[in-house]
Amino acid sequence: MSARKLGAVHAVPVDDFADAVLSGLSKPQKAISSQFLYDARGSALFEEITGLPEYYPTRTETAILSAYAAEMVEGLGADGVLVEFGSGSSVKTELLLSQLPLHVIYVPVDVSESALVEATERLSARFPQVDVRPVVGDFSHPIQLPQDLNRRPAVGFFPGSTIGNFGPAEAVRLLRSFGRGLPDASRFIIGVDLKKEARRLVAAYNDAEGATAAFNLNLLVRINRELDGDFDLESFRHEAIYDPRAGRIEMHLVSDVAQDVRVLGRPFRFKAGESIHTENSYKYTTDQFREMASAAGWQAGRLWTDANADFSVHELFGFGRG
Ligand code: AVJ
Repeated sequence: MSARKLGAVHAVPVDDFADAVLSGLSKPQKAISSQFLYDARGSALFEEITGLPEYYPTRTETAILSAYAAEMVEGLGADGVLVEFGSGSSVKTELLLSQLPLHVIYVPVDVSESALVEATERLSARFPQVDVRPVVGDFSHPIQLPQDLNRRPAVGFFPGSTIGNFGPAEAVRLLRSFGRGLPDASRFIIGVDLKKEARRLVAAYNDAEGATAAFNLNLLVRINRELDGDFDLESFRHEAIYDPRAGRIEMHLVSDVAQDVRVLGRPFRFKAGESIHTENSYKYTTDQFREMASAAGWQAGRLWTDANADFSVHELFGFGRG
């Protein structure tokens, strides 16, 4: 079954991998956006990461959602709309949907049509009271909800601390664009990883098993396969560092030696020790995040955390009424 048959609406074109790689490798600090880490193999490796002992965010957020799901979807009545940005496999969403006995509409938004098809089939079978209306689209661009859903107050959902992949200025823009894309009087539920000791943060992004290293290095495998690259995987290594001033984990792929690499016929020079910056993962205090939300035009609502204050789930409301 195709997503089109499921009623998917195509929003904007997906960013072009070739452009991103060629321009990213031409910068003084080589950099490729972390969105390109998630091909099929990358997504499978990320799944593996979420189960690692060092990687606390997924299991901590899942525990928070399990404990407080009913509060989070409170007020979402019959014909209410739940919109998830970057829904992927929609696993965490099940925790919210299982609290909704009434007829509700779930709109998963994702760039991956195949992920949407799979999630739609699974959720429709598991939650017959939920009408799943997938939208193929990149949440970093404005999303159009299906016309008939445009006027009903909705709950936006953005779990996983995906917001951490964006710097503070970009995060504010993104939060504003979510607000603009949702009907008036909507609420927003967002997962945000919290600041903590550097040692634990670095361990979460540099696990003993090497799953995160494989996840990062897979970007080079993808470039070799899709863009006729000749990266020598043996001469690049994964690095994760915490920059406490910026409040972010940085992932890099470091070239151990001076070398030339070709991608789509174009040469790129690496000095020994030179890196490609592949991901930022920002960490915020509760107050820092609330300040960004308020700069974006939202009001901060309830806050849910775990006993250790490792992870937070924020409620935002009143967009544009501040
Ligand atoms: C999916 C962006 C939330 O930043 O923790 C995990 C991605 N990168 N390990 C994160 C990731 C390396 C993850 N996010």
